[in-house]
Amino acid sequence: MAEALRRQESLPGFPLDRRAFFDDVVLDREFRQVFKESWQLLGFASELPDPGDYLVRRLGNDSVIVARDEQGGFSVLLNSCSHRGTQLCRATFGNAAHFRCSYHGWTFANDGRLVGVPSIRSNYPKDFRKQDHDLPRARVTCYRGFIFATWSDQAPPLEEHLGDFRWYLDAMLDLAGGEWEVYGPPQRSVMKGNWKVVTDNFAGDGYHMGTTHQAAFEQGIYGDSLADGTLGKGELELIGINIGTPQGHAVRAGYVVQKGRRTLPSTVTDPAYIGYPREVWEQFTAAQTPEQVRFNSHCEVVHGVVFPNAAFLSVSHDRAIGRENDPLTKYVVWRVHNPIDARRTECTYWTLVPRQLDEDWKRRSYAFQARSQSAGGILFEMDDFENFARIDAAISGTVADTAPLDLSLGLGLGTPVPDFPGPGRAEYLTLSEHNQRAFYRRWAELMEEGTRD
Ligand code: FES
Ligand code: FE
Repeated sequence: MAEALRRQESLPGFPLDRRAFFDDVVLDREFRQVFKESWQLLGFASELPDPGDYLVRRLGNDSVIVARDEQGGFSVLLNSCSHRGTQLCRATFGNAAHFRCSYHGWTFANDGRLVGVPSIRSNYPKDFRKQDHDLPRARVTCYRGFIFATWSDQAPPLEEHLGDFRWYLDAMLDLAGGEWEVYGPPQRSVMKGNWKVVTDNFAGDGYHMGTTHQAAFEQGIYGDSLADGTLGKGELELIGINIGTPQGHAVRAGYVVQKGRRTLPSTVTDPAYIGYPREVWEQFTAAQTPEQVRFNSHCEVVHGVVFPNAAFLSVSHDRAIGRENDPLTKYVVWRVHNPIDARRTECTYWTLVPRQLDEDWKRRSYAFQARSQSAGGILFEMDDFENFARIDAAISGTVADTAPLDLSLGLGLGTPVPDFPGPGRAEYLTLSEHNQRAFYRRWAELMEEGTRD
């Protein structure tokens, strides 16, 4: 273990230690040093519209109940009885004012207070105080409908944890006037492989598109915004911009620009929102600041990571087989990658849609998301999961364990984007591991702190 972490200290040159991807000792340290000390996305306020609504989710390696109280606030409670540790709530969602333990019947209010103990008067010592046995509560902050929580007392406030990423989250939400909702229930799947493998992919991996997803491109079942005609005539191309933050968050945005241009248009006089109905474009523009318009306009794809284990992707699709006349339609998926153990990851997926769009558009957007990025998705997720499983199959042999991995794609080659509207260091380089380096740099910082305890 010590050797694994020592090798990790050489991160500035970015060789990656393979043990980080299969060793349960590393995972145990991650739970204590990375997950416990970070804010994690648990879900969305629109999943809990009414008082008493609850969800069961994971915060690090703990099961938690996320509950909405009578005042509209949220509680995040350890889903483990204070008497013997029994899992309190077995349903994944529902509505309840109380949770009654199935073993001896201790009952907790949905804000975590112990309110009922069978035989308390006759069989417990006089000085037994219910308030000493409330459920542990995590810190929780709901930011614009995103519910984040942390077990850490030391972690800075969520806004500080988000850092520069907050500007990008605001820009993505303000695109549609800030009114988004989760469409349909979240989906889940279990991936064979370490949680960082899939998270690093979402942070900024444009490099795998041409090989891993080659078949999807060749079959023409991926939307082609360059040929769509919405963005005018002339020769167009896609450029990629990468933004990695010191907190480990990352954004990679792809823009459709006139061929040969190596930056965003300096002023957008004719904003275009690829994959959204033309009728709402004007409304979208009015809802944003000029800087946000420059970030969102002509954006074909944007994806990234909120450190440590949340990820997002917004992209357009069309041409589902049998539905060739469907217009290019955007979907926005948010995901969480929770380690089950060092070699298996539970992925949860939510589709977010602008509240103001009609039901047909929302359903189409959800269908495109489910088709490509879900347990039953036939496009990207299946291609990616196959490679992630092959990583897991080959990474841990006696010899393989000693061979470092590489993270140097684009190192020192990105050029700053002039007048980029968002904060942080934005680099133009379509194929780069700039963002993955930001992710692993933050991960290594937290893991190294663990070596000093
Ligand atoms: Fe919950 Fe005993 S374990 S009441
Ligand atoms: Fe992929």
